[in-house]
Amino acid sequence: MKIGIYGGTFNPPHLGHLAAARTAVEKLGLDKLLLIPAAIPPHKELPQGTPPAQERLAMVEKMADAMRMPQVVEVSDLELEREGKSYTSDTLAQLHARYPEAELWLLMGTDMFLSLHQWHEPERILELASVCAFGRTEQDGEAVFAAQREYLTRTFGAKVETMTLDGLVDVSSTRLRALLAEDRGGEYLLPAVYGHILMNGLYGTRADLKHLDLPELRACSYSMVRQKRVPHIMGTEEEAVRLARRWGADETLARRAAILHDCTKYLELEPQLALCEQYGVELDELEQRAVKLLHSKTGACIARAVFGEPDEVYDAIFWHTTAKENMTVLEKILYLADYIEPNRDFDGVERLRALAYEDIDKALLLGVETTIQEMEERKLPIHKKTLMARDWLRSHGVSVTEGSDK
Ligand SMILES: [Fe+2]
Ligand SMILES: [Fe+2]
Repeated sequence: MKIGIYGGTFNPPHLGHLAAARTAVEKLGLDKLLLIPAAIPPHKELPQGTPPAQERLAMVEKMADAMRMPQVVEVSDLELEREGKSYTSDTLAQLHARYPEAELWLLMGTDMFLSLHQWHEPERILELASVCAFGRTEQDGEAVFAAQREYLTRTFGAKVETMTLDGLVDVSSTRLRALLAEDRGGEYLLPAVYGHILMNGLYGTRADLKHLDLPELRACSYSMVRQKRVPHIMGTEEEAVRLARRWGADETLARRAAILHDCTKYLELEPQLALCEQYGVELDELEQRAVKLLHSKTGACIARAVFGEPDEVYDAIFWHTTAKENMTVLEKILYLADYIEPNRDFDGVERLRALAYEDIDKALLLGVETTIQEMEERKLPIHKKTLMARDWLRSHGVSVTEGSDK
């Protein structure tokens, strides 16, 4: 088994780290990659304004989640748990004891690689692990690496691989922190990490969460969900805007509602219930135990209370799961966009997509009926508002039987 070990302060984890991690998994053929945020690095003091270790751990977890390789990528708090200064040689010894058969590969950037012989116990490090160094740009590629590689091999019998990360937008963590303090630099970060920074005011950011522009709003939303959900949220945004254009609704409101619609999707039942309590959302008996029905309500509350969205956006998010009687155009748009966005794939999605642009009420009725049918087949309780949505549309002359007219 080949295990990659990628340590560092990750202060903050940025696109350079992500590219290095991805390249290492691919080029070294790693079976496992351990991302290990350091508590106190032995070679430098943490700069001022560095967020607490737990925040860096949370950000590294978002980066790991974004790699979408849960079998391979793991975040370890090994060094955060350890008392006192953290030495790479100790970490490697600990990992060697845990995985005695594994081939350990220590991953690092150019600066680290060039100073490796000055670390604590370099001979022990290089006995326990092979080294993979990444150049950030072409300039610090082979020319800079070659001498150090030869030196380490000659002196310590080290096994060294060096690679250049092509086409990478280059930024140092120091520069990035300075940019963040000026409310810039988002382009160097994964949106989910940037969102986490903004929402928690890390690195001196002072984002006014109630007046975020679209990229910042997306970043905050993506920081609140599992990264596998992000394509669905992006698809819903795209579809909602298209539907808003078709049906003359406010494009910006449709977009913002779509960006935030699933932001509380991954909260467990207990925090969902706590949010409902906090924001005075009354729940019926079914809702109190059906966590799936709660994220639309709590998402709406967060959209309004945290991000300052208007009532139209609140309502669209609030009703996006169950629907209800007599919906507004924006509510219909979000309900349908969520249902038919480009990543959705189920029997009948093409018909529903076509209908959504021909007759929005018929599409809504078809969506609601499809949901009811699916719930019946799976013997799941159907929300009363969903039934009311169907009945209201039918009693207003809407019908989806082939060939019939509204
Ligand atoms: Fe949802
Ligand atoms: Fe959704």
